[in-house]
Amino acid sequence: MIEAVFAGTPLCADRALTLGTLLKLPVITDIDPLSDEVLAVMPDRIEVWQKNTKPILVDFLAPQFLHRLHTMRGRDPLLRAVGLKPQIPSTVLDATAGFGGDACMLAYFGAQVILLEREPIMGLLLKDGVTRAQRAGELMTVASRMQVLITDAKEYLKQLAAEDYPDVIYLDPMFVHHKSALPNKNMQFLQQHSGHTHDADALLSVALRCARKRVVVKRALQAPTLDATVPSLCIKSKLLRFDVYLTGFTLHAADTKNYNDVEG
Ligand SMILES: C[S@@+](CC[C@H](N)C(=O)[O-])C[C@H]1O[C@@H](n2cnc3c(N)ncnc32)[C@H](O)[C@@H]1O
Repeated sequence: MIEAVFAGTPLCADRALTLGTLLKLPVITDIDPLSDEVLAVMPDRIEVWQKNTKPILVDFLAPQFLHRLHTMRGRDPLLRAVGLKPQIPSTVLDATAGFGGDACMLAYFGAQVILLEREPIMGLLLKDGVTRAQRAGELMTVASRMQVLITDAKEYLKQLAAEDYPDVIYLDPMFVHHKSALPNKNMQFLQQHSGHTHDADALLSVALRCARKRVVVKRALQAPTLDATVPSLCIKSKLLRFDVYLTGFTLHAADTKNYNDVEG
């Protein structure tokens, strides 16, 4: 539980005050050694500092993440599930964005991505990470295709005008024993702050009404489908499964070939 917003330098005081007001947290200029968790506002980034761990932040330019992007291929299960096609612009709504790793991969492969995150602290870290990537470094163009909104996805979708419906809605709800490519401490942070996504079934139902082409749900390999539904396609990797619900009724030959496809 974040206890305060720490202004890292006098230059950070205004931003710390804005975030403190938004989060209804006190602003401090000295770290209390007894505090377990603070949001630290630094000149170039915001981070969560927890006792005895490295800072938690969203950093798309971290070498480990860049390596993942560089080594991703078109046959990657996430890309196949979302159905990105070279030269065909797609809009993807990542309704459960978290640390934004999946969203950034989709943007890297050309998608225009809106990232929704309802947990304010997670949303602020995510916004900060995207803004930093947009300003400098090799992902400037990729990050320019990413837009973060801190909001509940169900509420957002319910008020969305039909002409703004995205091609694809991507859901990665938190589930118990979530298997993820996220570094462990990030996963623990999500579990502490977001917890289990209790309304995932309801979110799927709204998403199915709003996706022009498909809804993709990331699941643990053996987990039941959301809301006991039967997906149109199912793409599996060693640890994960992507349930694909085609909504646009345009089943392409390549999709049919991938039906219940299992990757080694
Ligand atoms: C498992 S994480 C997503 C991880 C993400 N795919 C990544 O690459 O980092 C799920 C996230 O969805 C958020 N979430 C769950 N339900 C939501 C909803 N209805 N609207 C917006 N965000 C939601 C949670 O707060 C959590 O941060």
